[in-house]
Amino acid sequence: MAGPIPQRFLDDLLARVDIVDVVGERVQLKKAGRNHAGLCPFHQEKSPSFTVSQDKQFYHCFGCGAHGNALRFLMEYDNLRFPEAVEQLASRLGLEVPREGQDDPRAQARERQRREGVNLLELATRFFRERLTMSEGRAGREYLERRGLSPDVLRDFAIGYAPDGWEALRRHLHDQGINDAVQVEYGLLVQREDSGRVYDRFRDRVMFPIRDWKGRTLGFGGRVLGDAKPKYLNSPETPVFHKGRELYGLHEARQANRRLERLLVVEGYMDVVALAQFDIRNACATLGTSVTEEHVQRLFRLVGEVVFCFDGDAAGRQAARRALEAVLPQMIDGRQVRFLFLPDGEDPDSLVRREGTQAFRDRITCAMPLSEFLFEQAAEGRDLQRIEERERFASTVLAALKRLPEGVLKSLLLGELSKRTGIEQARFTALMADAPAGAAEAAGEPAEPATGPMAPVSQPGPRLAGALSMLDRVLQLLVHEPTLVERLPDELDWCTEGDGDGALCREVIELLRAGRYRSPQVLLAHFHGTREGQRLEALARRELLIPRSARATEIDGLVAHFRRRRSRQTPESEYAALLAKERGGERLSREEKQRLMELLMSLNR
Ligand code: UTP
Ligand code: MN
Repeated sequence: MAGPIPQRFLDDLLARVDIVDVVGERVQLKKAGRNHAGLCPFHQEKSPSFTVSQDKQFYHCFGCGAHGNALRFLMEYDNLRFPEAVEQLASRLGLEVPREGQDDPRAQARERQRREGVNLLELATRFFRERLTMSEGRAGREYLERRGLSPDVLRDFAIGYAPDGWEALRRHLHDQGINDAVQVEYGLLVQREDSGRVYDRFRDRVMFPIRDWKGRTLGFGGRVLGDAKPKYLNSPETPVFHKGRELYGLHEARQANRRLERLLVVEGYMDVVALAQFDIRNACATLGTSVTEEHVQRLFRLVGEVVFCFDGDAAGRQAARRALEAVLPQMIDGRQVRFLFLPDGEDPDSLVRREGTQAFRDRITCAMPLSEFLFEQAAEGRDLQRIEERERFASTVLAALKRLPEGVLKSLLLGELSKRTGIEQARFTALMADAPAGAAEAAGEPAEPATGPMAPVSQPGPRLAGALSMLDRVLQLLVHEPTLVERLPDELDWCTEGDGDGALCREVIELLRAGRYRSPQVLLAHFHGTREGQRLEALARRELLIPRSARATEIDGLVAHFRRRRSRQTPESEYAALLAKERGGERLSREEKQRLMELLMSLNR
């Protein structure tokens, strides 16, 4: 029997997870002032009265009164028991759930390590800060001064110095009772594979703590004082640090302004800090990787407007195109993205120093809107006077637009595209609805002529903009990771009638069970060329945002939800729900219509 979960673990878990992430994966949320709002998943409604507060880490529905923290939400939404919800949250963060009074000494040791690991990063931050003020930190102080940073900015960003020695930090942490193993696991010590020897990872470097938006230290970036390589050394992947997901400076930006509306995304640590020195305190930076969808999600949970800042050279343009790719699927109404290209050879740090605060702010104000960048990309190297080139231009833009969620931005861009090409807008609108979205034909790469605007109209295909239905989420999980089928209950009663995709879902499960389809490719090949195939392909292309470790719990939760819904449904309520759906203007599937008729007959009897 597992013992109770220690309270301090729960506290720590809730402090590390962001409720906006958890809810946002299941409910489409939009930033509204300080909160996020959306349609309440716990009762039927047409206008959003469900709010999530990032500050309080709480959700509340003004319509039905549902409320609680991230754990409560998971329990209610996915129909999980408390320990299951804790498991689910913990697995997102790669943490193991400890149990009190557990006899397993290894589990106890792991829990101790985790606790120490968290604490250890804060201790290391403090250590580096102190060293900067001491005599051994002189070189670091002089370096930072040369780069024009004031004590205030150094304090706000908790910038420090790692002394020049092999085990300065190691010994300091030993004195605090923290062993080598934890220090290695959290990336502060390096362990040589051959000799097993351990030594401080960061030596004689200026240290930038990387914190999450709540201010917890996740890792470090360290810059050499001279020209040695690598210029910046970052923490390796650890249980709490994932380079492609985190952004440097979010916490500091929020500290400077609690009502942040806009974030500027730059490329380097120094750019963020230098901008802050010049009183531009809303910048953050990726950690040496290109912009990912996860970055974009994180940004839009904090603000409604994002300005990406890039070098004006070819590499900068390429990076901007990647960022465009990452933002397109997330451009729901109310969000804004712009691109700022800097003059050749400048970065934000050098530019703000040369031009000053106001001139840099003006550049931000005049940054290129997403739409402009998109059209510019598509037009690059094309002579739009020539009709066939205009068609290629239109297909490129359309390919990008297909990836946009439905909304005002999409209609505006369609209108603009029509203006710029002289092709009637109705023609585009029809094409948009008919062709499957193609991630491969992203902006910048011309689409295949066959899918261009002049291609024959194919049979209507699936639209996958916006949030996925619950059943789509099951399908998506199965397409990405077919072995999950083993977790599903033998009885498939939960995915039968009602949902339009029930039949497809059943077919997929039965195929997978038959044991011949264990890779996504083979599964897709089976359906290739059919409407179902298009649907599955679209689901396969859509990035699965649930971390690998959490997928099993996720699919269990979804199935539990369907089963619960099924057991709760009486013929009366099912009838009422179908009727409401039809009256609400939604098209019923053939199955649903038939079911509605059946119910009507039986209830009237
Ligand atoms: P840059 O090379 O553009 O450095 O790297 P920078 O920001 O201008 O820094 P200064 O002004 O020379 O101090 C941009 C970012 O790329 C990552 C870091 O995140 C850095 O901030 N990077 C760069 C590394 O991770 N390692 C490196 O060796 C270099
Ligand atoms: Mn620089």
